[in-house]
Amino acid sequence: QKDIYILGIESSCDETAASVVKNGRDVLSNIISSQISIHRKYGGVVPEIASRKHIEHIMPVIDAALEDAKVTLNRIDGVAVTYGPGLVGALLVGLSAAKALAWATGKPLLGVNHLEGHVFANFINDKNLEPPFLALVVSGGHTALLKVTGYNSFEMLGQTRDDAAGEAFDKIARVMGLPYPGGPEIEKLALEGNPKAIDFPRAMLDDPFQFSFSGMKSSVINYLHNEEQARRPVNRADVAASFQEAVTDVLVQKSVLAVKATGLKEIVLAGGVSANKTLQNKLAAAAKKAGARLVHPTKILCTDNAVMIACRGYYMYQAGVISPWDLNAVPALKL
Ligand code: KG4
Ligand code: ZN
Repeated sequence: QKDIYILGIESSCDETAASVVKNGRDVLSNIISSQISIHRKYGGVVPEIASRKHIEHIMPVIDAALEDAKVTLNRIDGVAVTYGPGLVGALLVGLSAAKALAWATGKPLLGVNHLEGHVFANFINDKNLEPPFLALVVSGGHTALLKVTGYNSFEMLGQTRDDAAGEAFDKIARVMGLPYPGGPEIEKLALEGNPKAIDFPRAMLDDPFQFSFSGMKSSVINYLHNEEQARRPVNRADVAASFQEAVTDVLVQKSVLAVKATGLKEIVLAGGVSANKTLQNKLAAAAKKAGARLVHPTKILCTDNAVMIACRGYYMYQAGVISPWDLNAVPALKL
């Protein structure tokens, strides 16, 4: 059987990335040009700057991915690219480059949902992983529990009604004066804090698979303001640790409910927040207790990358799910 090489391209937010993946599971290259240091000055991603930086970096990043993989463009079987969700100007850069390369080489264009891509990062880490399994998607903009019934079929169990988990990390970090992105900063600060110091509210909701983090976020921010007004010294490490404990409690409890309700034996973590060690450890232990196994990507594949996009694209290619040439960027694309 002929080996299948997929070129993956990702530019939905502040990382310009390209990768070549063989047969959906073997990573031949993984190039990521991050703009984090540029956006940090502004406390968050500035869309206009992101688009301009993507334009500067996209072709060198793609060239480097092909060169690292020692594969020529003509040997590529398909071009996979994120078409949403994300920043429209940022998405259009990767999408335009992908269309041009696919058209010029006569290869299929594979438009990938970024969030599905995050889930597929797990196939790289665990070569034996196969659907069906449960996925907890926790990124900067999304929080969802998903039943992955096949390589091209997904069933939504529940999502967040308001803030995403990563968004709560980022907003609280911002109030605490920590640099962007807030998630890794809170995790670092929490290492020196007591997770039981402050009892922040954990919204469990009537729907067992729906999430809400805005109340918890407001509670943390109010706590900081009240302490400041009363001129009491705040133990920032305790705040970080207690918030992290509250978020991960909700994520873990709802994931375990989903394991029990579906009877699935594997749960995978997906999206930037899955890099969080407390979440990984608590979920691994809880899953084990419920008779399931946790799979999560390595750190570099937790946050945005093009390996996961190429991997998702491979399974679309195999199923003949090819995108039309007029595929547009869809900033609010849903799971
Ligand atoms: O998946 P991602 O790179 O981009 C999106 O698709 O949104 O996720 C970024 C999010 C940010 O909110 C960031 O603060 C969070 O993931 N994040 C973390 C950690 N690393 C990244 N949150 C908690 N702990 C971490 N170690
Ligand atoms: Zn992402």
